[in-house]
Amino acid sequence: MSEAHQQPEVLITPDRIAARVRELGQEIARDYAGRPLRLVGILKGAWVFLADLIRAIDHDDVTVDFLGVASYGDTTHSSGEVRITKDLDMSIEGIDVLIVEDILDTGVTFDYILSALSAHKPRSLKVITLLDKPARRIKPIQADYVGFAIPDAFVVGYGLDYAQEYRQLPGICVLPSRTNPG
Ligand code: IMP
Ligand code: MG
Repeated sequence: MSEAHQQPEVLITPDRIAARVRELGQEIARDYAGRPLRLVGILKGAWVFLADLIRAIDHDDVTVDFLGVASYGDTTHSSGEVRITKDLDMSIEGIDVLIVEDILDTGVTFDYILSALSAHKPRSLKVITLLDKPARRIKPIQADYVGFAIPDAFVVGYGLDYAQEYRQLPGICVLPSRTNPG
């Protein structure tokens, strides 16, 4: 890392994440028992979480697709605009869909994704987010499954980035002196 990088502080350790992902996987396996399940990972932030989660779901019929969405530029400032950067590869009509997100913040992204995907008539549409920042919510969105509720701070690691960096950190970390702008 160059000198410009600040040392992130660990907020949630890899062990705690792993334990919570195991619990979520068990819950999902129970809830979707006997029904084919499609996980839809939101790129890019959710792919690390999705990779661990899918291996924690003991279920015979799980398929995966990805939706690319951009809501932030290369900063912590939300543009308030959501844009699809990669569409689904497979139809979700009549399918039980679970959207897998890294973090639910203002809810603007989820709100957009939910209305975009429900137009394709899935059998059901639920959301799981690893992290939830309820303090920042603008849209009245609640996830069906939440890994951890966290305070209002900008976090990185375990797939989450700041300007495309820090995704490789194994835990969830806070960048010091970088709080969420409004
Ligand atoms: P929302 O539309 O405000 O709910 O923002 C959701 C998206 O913003 C997430 O999928 C992330 O990509 C990004 N985001 C929000 N908060 C953070 C954060 O603390 N760290 C990294 N990315 C974040
Ligand atoms: Mg994201």
